[in-house]
Amino acid sequence: MQIQRVQLQQHGDERGMLVALERDRNVPFEIRRVYYLFATKQQVHRGQHAHRHLNQLAVTVRGSVKFLLDDGSGPVEVVLDDPSQGLLLGSMVWREMYDFSEDCVLMVLADQLYDPADYITNYDEFLREVNSSVLRGDMAACQSL
Ligand code: TYD
Repeated sequence: MQIQRVQLQQHGDERGMLVALERDRNVPFEIRRVYYLFATKQQVHRGQHAHRHLNQLAVTVRGSVKFLLDDGSGPVEVVLDDPSQGLLLGSMVWREMYDFSEDCVLMVLADQLYDPADYITNYDEFLREVNSSVLRGDMAACQSL
């Protein structure tokens, strides 16, 4: 899953728009938690962590926000500013959110309950863990040859 922008189907008519988020239809994991960030102050940077196991889908229900994402191969900036788009974030992705618009409501669906032990909050530690898991994957691939 890692990092993926997804287009969500919009059900629109003359009354307005509606987007449904459903397990296995457009959310590729079991939804165990939903949380949302709002009233974020100007200049604030949030996130600044990675998760060892958690998978998430982020949607800006309103407004816009920028993500700086790094799966160990270097930083990428992604702008979320459309309620019909989602951002899938798999495990072991360093994320930082900033430039929240004043009206931003950032909703996040997650496949695990809140667990502080799943967080990596030190970037150097994240790089150590992500690089050692890549190495473990390479060794497993070599052993299966
Ligand atoms: P924090 O992890 O600092 O948010 P962010 O990474 O987006 O900057 O979370 C802020 C507070 O909310 C902190 O006290 C932990 C709490 N919290 C929960 O209780 N449940 C949750 O699902 C999340 C994400 C945070």
